[in-house]
Amino acid sequence: MADLVARVREVLPSVRKDLEDLVRIQSVWADPSRRDEVHRSAQFVADLFTGVGFDDVRIVSEGGAPAVIARHPAPPGAPTVLLYAHHDVQPEGDPAQWHSAPFEPTERDGRLYGRGTSDDKAGVATHLAAMRAFGGKPPVGVTVFVEGEEESGSPSLSRLLEVHKGLLAADVIVIADSDNWSTEIPSLTVSLRGLADCVVEVETLDHGLHSGMWGGVVPDAVSALVRLLASLHDDDGNVAVAGLHEGSAAEVDYTPERVRADTGLLEGVTEIGSGSVPQRLWAKPAITVIGIDTTSIAASSNTLIPRARAKVSMRIAPGGDATAHLEALRKHLEEHAPWGARVTVTPGDLGQPYAIDATGPVYDAARAAFRQAWGVDAVDTGVGGSIPFIAEFAKAFPEATILVTGVEDPNTQAHSINESLHLGVLERAATAETLLLQSLATD
Ligand code: BES
Ligand code: MN
Ligand code: MN
Repeated sequence: MADLVARVREVLPSVRKDLEDLVRIQSVWADPSRRDEVHRSAQFVADLFTGVGFDDVRIVSEGGAPAVIARHPAPPGAPTVLLYAHHDVQPEGDPAQWHSAPFEPTERDGRLYGRGTSDDKAGVATHLAAMRAFGGKPPVGVTVFVEGEEESGSPSLSRLLEVHKGLLAADVIVIADSDNWSTEIPSLTVSLRGLADCVVEVETLDHGLHSGMWGGVVPDAVSALVRLLASLHDDDGNVAVAGLHEGSAAEVDYTPERVRADTGLLEGVTEIGSGSVPQRLWAKPAITVIGIDTTSIAASSNTLIPRARAKVSMRIAPGGDATAHLEALRKHLEEHAPWGARVTVTPGDLGQPYAIDATGPVYDAARAAFRQAWGVDAVDTGVGGSIPFIAEFAKAFPEATILVTGVEDPNTQAHSINESLHLGVLERAATAETLLLQSLATD
């Protein structure tokens, strides 16, 4: 085992180099003009696992983004482990706000900055490091599955799963796409929220009108839309949509100071909602407005705006059903339009929440591997984010044990500007995964 720890350390520089090259590929599936890049990143990932010695490496797609499936057959009597990550990334946002170019990986203070360094190209790097540490011959069966449209809600994942179910079957599924408690304390993620979103359009007028001639008599659509959006929360910031599920989160100490530090909440701005922080993040629904289409300020003229749209995103606590929650949201939006404004709701992505039973022999092995790799016990945590893959695969392979690990930490800034990976976390995560695979072979 000590040898394996040393092996991971030895292979890490080569893994880091490959991670940097992968980050240089702008694999933003959500941007139609960069779909070639997503094909390039799939090919790059496929080549990495071919390079490690896997014989069966394919790029598959079912009407959506390309995914990579790379397989190493199980030695007799050994279990098969599916290693998951995604090679697509979020759009980079405003490049001017990055301290270094988003697709040029740059190290500062032990962190590697760049879009996808953490979410989730570091997941690919973790699996690659483990495979290299074993010289391409892990002691268990390994199927690496690297998705290409996770950040777009995995729309073709269920078809991929249907078509390639035989290839993807596994006894244990390791998902390297989540957070850690800190850079020094690992997490095992035991619950994730689901997601449902929609676009709501509000119309009040047949056409724009001179705002002086008609303002004060007939409503503009933006004023109607913001009142409608305001109805989604009460004055304390609790979600005000009826019929949503609330569970109960583990009691974990999460101070207001930590919230402020982890989020960059501005001085004087308060938190919203009631209940402990873990309760609000992991076990209650949340609703956020993630985009608005209307006349820009630059294009504004004294005109009553006839129609406007917003994209509303809802997080669903484990135990709730995403389809039913989207229906509750739709109903609320249709019933709360002020002044009789016309409302059209167009449903968007759906992903089911998931709660994990983190007990049993695989979890015992994982906890031991994490303890050895990190020098401290892993904490079981929930996360507020979503990975639709999990509920889909849990349904397809009900006997498989699911482990959600990851390489993010509270300073990662996934989805935001200046995303980064803590390089020590990458090493510890790769070591833990390698040790876990070794112990799954012998248990
Ligand atoms: N890696 C995240 C999921 C995550 C977020 C894990 C926070 C741990 C903490 C994943 O890439 C992600 O961003 N998922 C999307 C899914 C959505 C598009 C259905 C999300 O949560 O917004
Ligand atoms: Mn991710
Ligand atoms: Mn993400």
